Amino acid sequence: MGEQAGRRSWAEPWKIKMVEPLRMTTREEREEALKKAGYNTFLLPSRDVYIDLLTDSGTSAMSDRQWAGMMLGDEAYAGSVNFYHLEQTVQEVYGYKHLIPTHQGRGAEHLMSQTQIKKGQFVPGNMYFTTTKLHQELAGGIFVDVIIDEAHDPYSEFPFKGNVDIEKLDKLVKEHGADKIAYVSVAGTVNMAGGQPVSMQNIKELREYCDKHGILLYLDATRLVENAFFIQQREKGYKDKKVAEILREFTSYSDGAWMSGKKDHLVNIGGWVAVNDPEVADRLRNLVVVYEGLHTYGGMAGRDMEAMAIGIKESIDDDYIKARVGQVQYLWELLDNWEIPVVRPFGGHAVFLDAKAFYPHIPQHEFPAQTLAAELYLDSGVRSMERGVVSAGRDPKTGDHKYPKLELVRLTIPRRVYTEAHMDVVAESVKEVYRNAKNVKGLKMVYEPAYLRFFQARFERL
Ligand SMILES: Cc1ncc(COP(=O)(O)O)c(C=O)c1O
Repeated sequence: MGEQAGRRSWAEPWKIKMVEPLRMTTREEREEALKKAGYNTFLLPSRDVYIDLLTDSGTSAMSDRQWAGMMLGDEAYAGSVNFYHLEQTVQEVYGYKHLIPTHQGRGAEHLMSQTQIKKGQFVPGNMYFTTTKLHQELAGGIFVDVIIDEAHDPYSEFPFKGNVDIEKLDKLVKEHGADKIAYVSVAGTVNMAGGQPVSMQNIKELREYCDKHGILLYLDATRLVENAFFIQQREKGYKDKKVAEILREFTSYSDGAWMSGKKDHLVNIGGWVAVNDPEVADRLRNLVVVYEGLHTYGGMAGRDMEAMAIGIKESIDDDYIKARVGQVQYLWELLDNWEIPVVRPFGGHAVFLDAKAFYPHIPQHEFPAQTLAAELYLDSGVRSMERGVVSAGRDPKTGDHKYPKLELVRLTIPRRVYTEAHMDVVAESVKEVYRNAKNVKGLKMVYEPAYLRFFQARFERL
């Protein structure tokens, strides 16, 4: 209860109209399922999962308005009514002039990378994200992490650990010249850093820096509404502003953005890329027909674009976003009160467990976070995700594992799906796994795919 934490409680601004039954499993069944899945939670069939905190991507519950919108799908190949509704909504809420829809976020990343990066150019960003960086590299770019140092420290209490370190960026620009920078790539509530936000002051300063050097600034807008909420809560001068207003100010400092609509937009599929420059938009529109579909649907059905347009409006409601991030805070506080090692402060979409602190006896090449995700599933059927050495992949030059400072397990909370009672069950299971931590052994990787290995790699117990 909020009162026990010294604050007033809040509740969701919605009630439940339809439910989806969950299957409970025994420990023996979970042992069997996990072995079959090669100790990779991505390879578990969802029917074997009780509470699914693998991801907040495409896992949201849509509202009755969104489902009603699905019935208004105009499935014309060209010029669907729903495209114009979506275009108008993105223009109004995010402020960009030109919208190109895509099937999901990585489709947008692909188009942006292929049109905006020349071979050998650098792409500085606030910590890597798996698919974003891969598309930048496939386009011939070189990703450089320019996030502030605090982001790599799970226990730093800095409220905006997603910020760009402009000195690090400046060093790169001085070393190679501004024309060798494709663009600066800034993500809101940085996923790999624990869902940590970027401050308004930082994006403003970054805009000034980019203008001075003639460098473009693009956003990964995937969780920018959640970022805007943190600005409202944590940054001086924003507490009386609406999240919608903050979001609009934030995007005004950028030249465009790509979006995985499967997160903030409260839909199960879809994405977009949007820019202000008409020439860039033409290039994107030309490429979208090759990889996604015509520029007025880009891989989405008309009904999906309608649900997205409605979801965008719902996502910027202050009461909704408070309850959404509030649920993350609720789980985080339960764990923190039990002194379980979690990334601090709480982020926007997930609670991140520090696997290095759970298993100091397991070296990083034996995959402590992968192990922790497996143990949590075995204990209670709760599915989580590794965000450590497996996700970081290999150095393209040396072929060695990359060893990120953060070796985390992500308990990602789908939007409008679970109750606080589910969070209680999750917290108790994490506590139990933490209690048994010293008896646990690591894993060895027995199958490794070439790209984005965390999705399909297989492991065995050591
Ligand atoms: C920050 C961020 N950017 C981009 C993507 C890629 O989006 P999608 O999964 O829709 O392809 C994701 C997905 O997890 C993400 O979290």
